[in-house]
Amino acid sequence: MSNILAVYGSPRRKGNTALLLKRAVEGAMEAGVGVEEVVLRDLKMSPCLEIYGCRKTGRCVIKDDFQQLHDQMHACKGLMLASPIFFYSLSAHTKILIDRCQSLWVKKYWIDKVRYGQWEPKRKGLFISLGATKGKKLFDGALLTVKYFFDVLDMELWNSLLYRGLDFEGDVLAHPEYLEEAYKMGKEFVTSLETEV
Ligand SMILES: Cc1cc2nc3c(=O)[nH]c(=O)nc-3n(C[C@H](O)[C@H](O)[C@H](O)COP(=O)(O)O)c2cc1C
Repeated sequence: MSNILAVYGSPRRKGNTALLLKRAVEGAMEAGVGVEEVVLRDLKMSPCLEIYGCRKTGRCVIKDDFQQLHDQMHACKGLMLASPIFFYSLSAHTKILIDRCQSLWVKKYWIDKVRYGQWEPKRKGLFISLGATKGKKLFDGALLTVKYFFDVLDMELWNSLLYRGLDFEGDVLAHPEYLEEAYKMGKEFVTSLETEV
């Protein structure tokens, strides 16, 4: 049975992205899969220090909570990532995780010498995000970052849930249809993991 890792990237424990991700997790569990949940704000994780200690083995040398998360990301079949939009990008908590995955980039492209674009997906990702405003380009920056984050995990962006106009904690509760969509998406994610990868 496929396992899923759910990563909560907002500093708010019960914020809008957390509520949506929770519903997606519930949908996945309802479909009978095991889900591990990680709240980034609870971890002790340094930003990337750009020392390239990862050059030898492809593994980051900073000893903190990233190490366990590294193993969890590799062990999962599907990753659910949720982050609010902060300054047209991801939250700082999420970006710290992503930058630490430069070690995976080093492993894939420098050590293993994979050619850009010449790899088969081993796992799938679901991205959940939202912001307060309604602009057309609200998610452009975040989506690009997530695409390349997933790349180092040999992961394809399977789907994303993106919502505009949500700002204060709990705003999403006024949109039960969004929460329902997240629940259904969590279920469908499990089906897609079992049938396609
Ligand atoms: C530091 C910071 C930067 C933000 N930048 C943006 C932004 O660029 N565009 C936007 O639409 N909303 C922005 N917001 C609003 C959040 O995206 C919004 O409050 C969202 O609902 C927070 O999600 P959460 O409850 O999951 O934390 C920002 C909020 C904070 C705290």
